[in-house]
Amino acid sequence: MLKGKHVVLGVTAGIAAYKACEVVSRLSKLGANIDVIMTQNATKLVAPLTFETLSKRPVVIDTFERIESWDVKHISLAQKADVMLVVPATANLMAKLASGIADDMLTTTLLATKAPIMLAPAMNTGMWTAEATQSNLAVLKDRGVLTVGPASGILACGDIGAGRMSEPIDIVEAVIKLLAARQDMQGKRVLVTAGPTVERIDPVRYMTNDSSGKMGYALAEAAQKRGAAVTLVSGPVHLPVPAGVTLVSITSTQDLYDAMMMHAANQDIIVQAAAPADYKVQQVADQKIKKQDGENLILKLVENPDVAKAVGKQKQPHQILVGFAAETQNIVANAQRKLQSKSLDMIVANDVTQEGAGFGVDTNIVTLITKDAVKPLEIMSKHEAANCIWDEAVALAGAPLLHPARV
Ligand code: PMT
Repeated sequence: MLKGKHVVLGVTAGIAAYKACEVVSRLSKLGANIDVIMTQNATKLVAPLTFETLSKRPVVIDTFERIESWDVKHISLAQKADVMLVVPATANLMAKLASGIADDMLTTTLLATKAPIMLAPAMNTGMWTAEATQSNLAVLKDRGVLTVGPASGILACGDIGAGRMSEPIDIVEAVIKLLAARQDMQGKRVLVTAGPTVERIDPVRYMTNDSSGKMGYALAEAAQKRGAAVTLVSGPVHLPVPAGVTLVSITSTQDLYDAMMMHAANQDIIVQAAAPADYKVQQVADQKIKKQDGENLILKLVENPDVAKAVGKQKQPHQILVGFAAETQNIVANAQRKLQSKSLDMIVANDVTQEGAGFGVDTNIVTLITKDAVKPLEIMSKHEAANCIWDEAVALAGAPLLHPARV
């Protein structure tokens, strides 16, 4: 179930550390690759050799140990991880993580990782309910850190109450939910468009817009993580290409049209989050346009192709087409018109005048519109919005969703 997944498992010095052995054993049986990082104090509770035997890999403890391979350990583990799990997570670890303290291998790796972080807190009830711990927990949750438990019960110190670490089976279940449930797009080919287009005026000037590509890149990354084969057709942006995604770079709306005509037929789901220019100058000047000595300069603009409409015209019965609508007024009505005119199955409307929505920002406020439903969503990160859009698109596609030629 977790074959090919890489779990970096941190062990801190809580009495529940012995239960981390069962977590490693269960994850390993499910096919996960596991690297264990222990804090110095945790090694006083459980011998590293136990974890080495269960994970079949050396346990990492000291930031400054002799280098065996020429990668920077905390960075390479941080990058390899599909999830970073801390079992048990003490109050001390939570406090350090909340404040960005990186003073050993585990905390430096946690700080460096972009992977989801999941904590299994375990501590005395008084420590768990302490204002400091609860406020650290709130900070961590706000940053997207996930928690499993703690449960309530008799604690090692004899107290009864909250703070008991969740059972290994529940922790493993949470990891499966995080890593395995999101493989629902395996076997699907998806194409995402992202970013602005650039329309030349002369050799030194151009017209463009404020699209950063964040929405489209989040969509591409989320689909790739859920198992899809992803092609990303992108205008010029300053974002790294998500790992495993095939990039097709374009500049103008005409380039976007050409790329889509080449790649669209082969896809199961197409999501068009790019912001292509509707107009281009009729005649791009060969030389830099000179000032006209007080005369106004009039540029004649002509329409660019409507790419989504052209893709819609060639829609195949098995395909799901999703467009975006960047609106400033009458959001739903305008988006519904585009849904119909571009032969889309769904349109994602965003009011680009709203704070926290649209161009450039890391969040979006979207309404998912199909011919039967209008579903407004709360403000959320573009990554979360991307997953909501895929949830809906996958549901629209139903199962099985395979290109006829590949069935
Ligand atoms: O990139 P970010 O900074 O993260 O910003 C995200 C976003 C605001 C760009 C994104 O959320 C968004 O709204 N993208 C669509 C922008 C847009 O062009 O909207 P539109 O309402 O003008 O176009 C409707 C649909 O037709 C879109 O799917 C668009 O890609 C497509 N279109 C538009 C014009 C054109 N000539 N050809 C097209 O295919």
